[in-house]
Amino acid sequence: MAARSDELLGTRAMRATDLHRIIGIERRCYHFPWGETAFLDSMAVGYICRVLTLGHQVVGYVIVSSGAGEAHLLNISIDPEWQGRGFGRQLVHLARESAREAGAEILLLEVRPSNQIALQLYARTGFHQIGRRSNYYRAVEGREDAIILSCPL
Ligand SMILES: CC(C)(COP(=O)(O)OP(=O)(O)OC[C@H]1O[C@@H](n2cnc3c(N)ncnc32)[C@H](O)[C@@H]1OP(=O)(O)O)[C@@H](O)C(=O)NCCC(=O)NCCS
Repeated sequence: MAARSDELLGTRAMRATDLHRIIGIERRCYHFPWGETAFLDSMAVGYICRVLTLGHQVVGYVIVSSGAGEAHLLNISIDPEWQGRGFGRQLVHLARESAREAGAEILLLEVRPSNQIALQLYARTGFHQIGRRSNYYRAVEGREDAIILSCPL
């Protein structure tokens, strides 16, 4: 059943049983979505894997790896039906809190220069650019750079 906007927003650990729903969101969010194995591996190696729920429905998720004082935001996605309501911002805060609790002092991520919405979100949540990797991502036509962003925790 579809979630309603008056339902309670919550977060919890990602479960294997969420993957059907998550893969559906991935496919609608990205030209090059993560596959099921990437999520299963992230859970298996102990990355921070959290979902955002509205009622019982998963509407977003975030994955963060952490070690040696440094955390990496590997995936942050909101169901396109639920974007633009502040949920992405909440997931960034959750990622920061979780990374800090895991002992990280800095949170890093990579983003496509063409992803203006994500760039806006990160600029508003305390990230700044520290570098750029040339031709890092596969793109619909050719390759695309990655902008590297950092946020102190
Ligand atoms: C990027 C993403 C997670 C943002 O989530 P969201 O819930 O839509 O974002 P929010 O509603 O929390 O908005 C946070 C900020 O993002 C920016 N933003 C959101 N929607 C925007 C839009 N349509 N146009 C421009 N900026 C926008 C704004 O700066 C906004 O802050 P503001 O409300 O103070 O202006 C979401 O769009 C998404 O899942 N995109 C596809 C997957 C993706 O690109 N992930 C990031 C990979 S690096």
